[in-house]
Order: sequence, then structure tokens, then C-alpha cells
Amino acid sequence: MADKSLIDMSWDEFDEHRDPRPADNQFDQVVERAISRRGFLGGALAFGSGAAVFGAGLFSSTSISRADGHGKFTFKPIGIATDSAIHVPEGYESKVLVRWGDALWSQANNAYSADNGVSVDFSDKVFGENTDGMELFSVDGKEIITVNSEYVNPKINLPAEAEGTPRNAEEVQLLKNLQGVTVMEVANSGEGYAVVVDSPYNRRITHETEMVLAGPLAGHALVQTKADPTGKSVKGTMNNCGSGKTLWDTYLTCEENFNGYFGASGEMPEGEGYKRYGIKGKGRYAYEKFDERYDISKEPNEPHRHGFITEINPLDPTSTPVKRTALGRFKHENAEMVHAADGRVVVYLGDDERGEYLYRYVSNDSWAPGQSPEGLLDNGQLYAAKFNDDQSGEWLALTPEATGMDAASILCFTRMAASSVGATTMDRPEWVAANPLRAEAYCALTNNKNRGKKPNAGGDDTTVNGPNPRNTNNYGQILRWRPADENHAADSFTWDLYVMAGNPSVHSDAYAGSSNINEGNMFNSPDGMAFSSDGKLWIQTDGKDSNEGDFAGMGNNQMLVGDPESGEIVRFMTVPKGAEVTGLCWSADKKVAFVGVQHPGGSWPDGAGKPRSSIVSVWRQDGKTIG
Ligand code: FEO
Ligand code: CA
Ligand code: CA
Repeated sequence: MADKSLIDMSWDEFDEHRDPRPADNQFDQVVERAISRRGFLGGALAFGSGAAVFGAGLFSSTSISRADGHGKFTFKPIGIATDSAIHVPEGYESKVLVRWGDALWSQANNAYSADNGVSVDFSDKVFGENTDGMELFSVDGKEIITVNSEYVNPKINLPAEAEGTPRNAEEVQLLKNLQGVTVMEVANSGEGYAVVVDSPYNRRITHETEMVLAGPLAGHALVQTKADPTGKSVKGTMNNCGSGKTLWDTYLTCEENFNGYFGASGEMPEGEGYKRYGIKGKGRYAYEKFDERYDISKEPNEPHRHGFITEINPLDPTSTPVKRTALGRFKHENAEMVHAADGRVVVYLGDDERGEYLYRYVSNDSWAPGQSPEGLLDNGQLYAAKFNDDQSGEWLALTPEATGMDAASILCFTRMAASSVGATTMDRPEWVAANPLRAEAYCALTNNKNRGKKPNAGGDDTTVNGPNPRNTNNYGQILRWRPADENHAADSFTWDLYVMAGNPSVHSDAYAGSSNINEGNMFNSPDGMAFSSDGKLWIQTDGKDSNEGDFAGMGNNQMLVGDPESGEIVRFMTVPKGAEVTGLCWSADKKVAFVGVQHPGGSWPDGAGKPRSSIVSVWRQDGKTIG
């Protein structure tokens, strides 16, 4: 890794570079503490079918079909792929909806070229790079996809002469414009879905778009800058990963690795927060060389204005996006909003860094359809999750009394607040998805190679714990919890592991995975997740696709679908080598799924020229609902 430039690193590698772990130590061993864990379905959590099975098995052998079956699913599961194509089950079709560089307005129709990509002049008139969290909104018979563009690949997005590093302010501007959020109308002409170019709904939001900073941290000294002495007006939303949809039909976009955009040209400002959030030295994209806003030696508070959930009204292209500070500042993955049984609004939030935490926000007021949502995401309580070994758990309120921090600092340095109350360190919380058919939520814990080896960036203990039972966790697991009284606003819950990913063809211990993993559905690093309205859990992976060693037999990244009742998981789709699967939503009639393909390799999908991150539509040839 030492030879890799900052810009070439994955975000995980970037974190590691900022805060390296020690060499392997005595903790580098299999931990089988999960063996005796009992699941919601009864029985002990057993390991994979291809391996020695411990205990009774989480899932009865009659209710779960193995590699060759497809249980309650209406399609035949597909095998792995190692090629550069999209694969979907027999009877399904897929088609690219939009690629980075495709025009949203006709003035940019010819803006993209295979050799040079897009020039700065058109970079905010085209679909952005590296598609991620995606939601579909339906109004007056029109369908509007709102989707973020997580980050850029400067080697692909900049002219070849730049060699992957912006050389001037214009090239920085180009990169800024290819990120942010895209709002675009889509329509099915009968030949599949396409973007409605020049739709009045179409909009690009970038690293420069004017936004409001709202909630308890707004206006505080911690968020005031030279350009904004009010601390209430922020430019741009950056490195948005997952997404969410509010109960009142707005889009939530989630700033994840925002730290990488800031650099110090001179002295580091004082404060623990920079270290905890991985901000030091040179920025990843050289923004600070050409724009002082990103230079923390000159603007120490600018990073405090990023790392939030931003709310966007996709149905009003003139609306100002709002950063909701009450939902905390960390490396947000997604924002899963649910309506609690007591009427309050609950948002589940993951912080995707090794050993960081899972959070929940609960509004002070309750809400009912038709009521104004004003204030619901500004006035509420943030909590961090604590998981007990007996499979109980509680939400720890991040209050001044509990944390010893003032209210503004809790929201600005949320990670430190969670550390202070003893929340449970997690294996990189990615998306949370709530089951629409029962009070139950799931969180993808993607992987954590440092589990048992190294504390988190705040020094917190990361030895194995209940929901994170394996050291050197290269495969990941999906955690689920059920709130007390079926009320997502309740302060306690019970939990189990829905699945522990693993490889039963290579391992016969905890790394073989749980009993619902077999050689026919193996995967690693669950990331994106969403429930379809029929109560099926769709799982997208962002893992190692080497298909070798520990990952042999897993192939390219994939989308699977799980049955929450039986535990059965089957493979639905694979993406081209090099890509991860990111973002999932459905057409208004639920007959078409839109799936994000991020950072593909080769020349996918054009077959020549640069690879292009794209959204793909998938549908059944017989026109029935997917799944
Ligand atoms: Fe951007 Fe945590 O994935
Ligand atoms: Ca993700
Ligand atoms: Ca990921």
C-alpha cells in the first residue's frame, strides 16, 4: 500500500493509511463465540452446510433450500460470474438506464467522449460518477429517481495528461461537479426505461450547491467560517454513500468519507476531532491546493460542516437542500426512516468505519401523514447502540449528562460522544433496512480486518463482542434487531445475526459462515440493503471479487435476496468484475428494479473506452413483479 497514491486507495485503505494497524498478533485466530448464539427462529446459530455443523442449526432443513433449490423465490438462483457482464436469472432482462457522462439536458447531448470523458463546462449537466444511494419518487404519474454520486475516479474522469491528479482549479471543479446528487425523471417508453432529457425535474447538486445547515449545531462557533460567519449556510454535499426516503417523500443523502476532501497546507489546527475523523496531512483529491475552503490550516471549521444527512426535495428543483445536524456527524452510510408505533419518526444510521457505531435518531414530536414534517429532523434525540452478549440491547442517549459534552459538541463530534457512553464497536455498519412487514431492522456489517487487532480511531476496544463475533472478519455479517413492544422508538431491543457470510468450501469453522450460507450462495462484504414491499431483503455486496483463496467460489460482486422468515438467501444478479453493487429502488408499479453498478472494470458497459458507472434496470420478461 505504501506505493499507492492516496487517490488510488479504496476508502478502507485510505482509513488504514491514516491510522495503520499493528502487525498480526495473537488475536489472529478463529473465535467461535457465535456457536451458541440463538436466533429469533430458535436453535443455535450453526456454521455452514459444507462444514461441520455445531448445534441444532438456525434454520430447519425443511424450510431452507440449498444451492440447487429456490424455495419461496420465483426465479432460479444464478451461479457466480467472473466476467465483465451483468447476469440476471432466466426469464429476466437487464438494460443500462444511464451512465456517468450521459446528458440530463440536451445541451450536453454530445458532452461525453470515450477518450476524454466530459469537459468541465458540461460536468454538471450530465449524470455523475459512481452512482450510489437511490430512491424513486412518484408524482402525477411521473417517476423521478434521485441518486447520489459517491466519489470520482480521477484517472478516468480527468484528461489522461493529468495522470489522475487535478492540476488546476478547473480540474478540481470538474471533479466536484461529477459528485453530489442527480435528480432525473425516468419513463418507460415501451422499450424499457430511459432518462427524460430536459425534464423540469432534472437537477444536479454538486460540491458547490448552496445548502442550509439546520438543527442544534447550526450557527455554532464550531461551524462558522470566513465565508460563512453565520454558520448556517454551507456549500455542497460530498461523498454521499447510501440514501433514505422520508415518510413525507423527500430524499436523504448521507455524507460518508468526507474527511478525504480536506488537507492541511501548513499547521494542523488543534482539536481531537480531526484525528478521530481521519483528517490530517494531504487531502485525497488536492482540493486544498486550489480552494482554501478545503485547507484546514486556513479554514479549520469547514470539515465540521460536512459528515451529515442532507434532506432534498426532489419534486421542487428550486428547493434548497438542508443538512440535518441533529442526526449527528460521522461517516454516514444510509438513513433508514421508520414510523415508530408511538407515532414518532425514527432514523437508523450507520457509521462506516472499522470499530465505529450504529446510531438511532428519534424525533421529539410524533407525526401523521398529511402533517407538516417541520422540525422533525431538527428536534430529537440521537442514540448509539449497545449490544449485550445475552442478545438484549439498548439505545444509549447521547445527552450532555451521559457524555459530559455540550449539545453542539455531541452533534459535531458524535463519534466521541458514542465512545464516552460505551456503545458497542461494530464491524463497519453499512446500510440499515427495516422490514415493512414487522418491527425489525437489519444492518449490514460489511467486514473488519482489524477486529481483535487494533482499537478504533478513538482508541476504543474492538475485541470480539456479540454481534461482531469473529476476529479478522473478512466476510461480514448481517445483524438484525427487534425493538421492545414492536416500537422502534423504544429504548431496548433483542438481536440476532441473520447471516454470517463465509466460505464453507475453504473453512470449517466460524469462517465457513452461518448455516444459511452454502457453496451455492456464498458472498462477502454485504453493503447495500433494501426491503421490497413484499418483505424480502435484497443484499448487495462490495467485497473482494478475486475469486481466490478465502474468496474462492464467490465470484464477482452480487445482489442476493433473503427470506427473513426461513433465512434462505439466493443469488439474483452479478455485476461486472471490478464493480460493486450500490443502490436499489423500484419503479412505481414494482415491475422494474433499478440497480447501481459502481466502479466497474474494463470498458463496461460500452465495450470500448473508459469504464462507466451506471444504473441498470432489471425486469421480468413476463411483466410480473420482481422477486
Ligand atoms: Fe460508501 Fe460504506 O460504503
Ligand atoms: Ca456502501
Ligand atoms: Ca462498502
